[in-house]
Amino acid sequence: MSIEIKPNEIYNFDCIEFMKLMAENYVDLTVTSPPYDNLRNYNGYHFDFEHIAQGLYRVTKKGGIVVWVVNDRISNGNRTLTSFKQALYFQECGFNVHDVMIYKKKNTPFMRSNAYTNCYEFMFIFSKGKPNIFNPLTEKTVRHGFEMVVYNKGADAVNKKVLKELKSEKTKTNIWEYAVGLGGSTNDKEAFEHPAVFPEKLAEDHIMSWSNEGDIVFDPMCGSGTTCKMAKKHNRLYIGCDISAEYVEIAKKRLEKYLQDCSFNFL
Ligand SMILES: C[S@@+](CC[C@H](N)C(=O)[O-])C[C@H]1O[C@@H](n2cnc3c(N)ncnc32)[C@H](O)[C@@H]1O
Repeated sequence: MSIEIKPNEIYNFDCIEFMKLMAENYVDLTVTSPPYDNLRNYNGYHFDFEHIAQGLYRVTKKGGIVVWVVNDRISNGNRTLTSFKQALYFQECGFNVHDVMIYKKKNTPFMRSNAYTNCYEFMFIFSKGKPNIFNPLTEKTVRHGFEMVVYNKGADAVNKKVLKELKSEKTKTNIWEYAVGLGGSTNDKEAFEHPAVFPEKLAEDHIMSWSNEGDIVFDPMCGSGTTCKMAKKHNRLYIGCDISAEYVEIAKKRLEKYLQDCSFNFL
């Protein structure tokens, strides 16, 4: 099938076939989350990871980024480490593993009787060469005001100190924490007709970090449309795709409602 891919649309396709229709070096940023180790049955679709990774390498611009949010299953007491196997495969495809970030969940941690409670997922940051964009997010420092700080260590090993104003903001670390569930991930009730919504703020933070206004932001497995909604909010051009017609409908409705709310607030 041949279609013209237009930004600001959500498509019902297997993303492997969809990416074949996309031009090479087209996407600035991908923010996506695959089905985790068949933890959930997304309407029974088979997941062909290798072809998805290859497709992402082809469609990503030089200097573009793929954010891959993923976790492992525990099978017979053994963690699959699929997340890391996937990361190694992305490297084989040509991506750099620019960072391995942690998405820490403030609530609903996964409890095990004989291990510590799991409260995180991985956010792999893959780059096609040196990243074109990094707009670092900052957070407030704990200590601020004035303090005597070391500025030079002389040959006598005596620290020299000077009174300096401490910075009130610093670049965030690579562990990001989010509330999940209704009111945490999003307030959009309709999104929860999808079984695995990730937090809007997570998508937003990556979009702000790795892209600029007008850039193409892609989610090949967009589920309820979280990445698309956040890309639209920040004046990026979104392209969403999901293999499930049912989820595409949810995502489209969610986006429509968001746009209606925006125009209502604008009046
Ligand atoms: C973890 S969910 C994504 C959830 C999304 N981040 C959100 O916030 O709603 C994974 C999605 O991948 C979709 N999917 C699985 N295989 C796919 C494929 N080959 N092409 C496109 N979508 C696929 C599933 O239908 C499911 O909606």
